[in-house]
Amino acid sequence: MNTHRPILSVDGVSKRFSGPYSLLRRLKGEPPLAVHALSNVTLDVERGETLGIVGESGCGKSTLARCMVRLHEADDGAVRFDGTDISNLHGSARRAFNRRVQMIFQDPYGSLNPRMTVQQIIGEALSVHKMRPKADIPARIAELLDLVRLPADAAARYPHEFSGGQRQRIGIARALAVEPEVIVADELVSALDVSVQAQVVNLLLQLQEKLHLTVVFVAHDLRLVRHISHRVVVMYLGQIMEISPADALFSAPRHPYSKALLEAAPELDPGQKNRNVALRGELPSPLNVPPGCPFAGRCPHVFDRCTVERPLLSPRGPGQLAACHLTDFGAAEAAATLPAQPGH
Ligand SMILES: Nc1ncnc2c1ncn2[C@@H]1O[C@H](COP(=O)(O)OP(=O)(O)OP(=O)(O)O)[C@@H](O)[C@H]1O
Ligand code: SF4
Ligand SMILES: [Mg+2]
Repeated sequence: MNTHRPILSVDGVSKRFSGPYSLLRRLKGEPPLAVHALSNVTLDVERGETLGIVGESGCGKSTLARCMVRLHEADDGAVRFDGTDISNLHGSARRAFNRRVQMIFQDPYGSLNPRMTVQQIIGEALSVHKMRPKADIPARIAELLDLVRLPADAAARYPHEFSGGQRQRIGIARALAVEPEVIVADELVSALDVSVQAQVVNLLLQLQEKLHLTVVFVAHDLRLVRHISHRVVVMYLGQIMEISPADALFSAPRHPYSKALLEAAPELDPGQKNRNVALRGELPSPLNVPPGCPFAGRCPHVFDRCTVERPLLSPRGPGQLAACHLTDFGAAEAAATLPAQPGH
């Protein structure tokens, strides 16, 4: 049964951006500072799953998403799609990758051309990738609009005539037009009203099941991530702190940062009892990543080893990985959530 391979694998990926270059550094002849947006990130995305990616602002979620679709090239490491390093794809193989892996962005205004009707927007995607003979395009557009639950008369209208939620549906229809296998959604619903967010996320959930899509879902809102994801990746300062099945993460996180992030999330704590308590201290700058555990400066459990040695992701419970020197962190809570053994 071990013959499967992940549809996408991220293998030791690092990504740096050039940071500010101060006059002082210039005068001293020092090179510009580098922003370490991703440091040695490794994860697999399994075919047909929804993988959530969470973490505070600036932790590298979008950079990771962009590396996965090759909007950024990794500085080190590789992203493989169906086993092939995507940086080696050229010509028709690259076009095929661009079709099979689609990214949907947060901003429904910015990503839809205001001068094109919905019909033209979706029709363009269909013709660029030669998905249908010309004569079949109107019928396919109608089918796609139906799939995302927009009325058929939406085809002749312009993006500004729609609400934010409807525009995200148009973005989803455009992405689905090319029959992708993977959808990478970066803050898909963050710009929408809370009441509309659930509708769009539920649509994505239904489409994922119906079309057997693989979805990478980047979001701030942990409640939505829990609702939609099979597994969740928790990032901090460009590194992965924990990868867990969603249920396990939310019931018994195995990394102190995951626990703090969940406790600080207002959407998971309507009474707001724990707010501002759990995540104390400043997020360090990605210009100056500490040598040991990136969370050491804020972790209530920090000890000597943490500041000198970077913990590696290592197995915890079933399907769970965490990067913490305290390998039994959260183990008692995890054991308490296991179903009782028969006969006990
Ligand atoms: N094009 C760029 N040039 C320079 N720095 C960048 C660039 N893109 C991202 N960064 C920096 O890399 C780090 C990671 O940014 P990224 O956008 O991936 O974070 P994020 O987790 O998506 O944050 P948010 O939740 O705010 O969207 C940040 O410090 C950011 O300022
Ligand atoms: S390695 Fe140390 S500092 Fe980092 S999360 Fe674990 S206990 Fe805290
Ligand atoms: Mg982002």
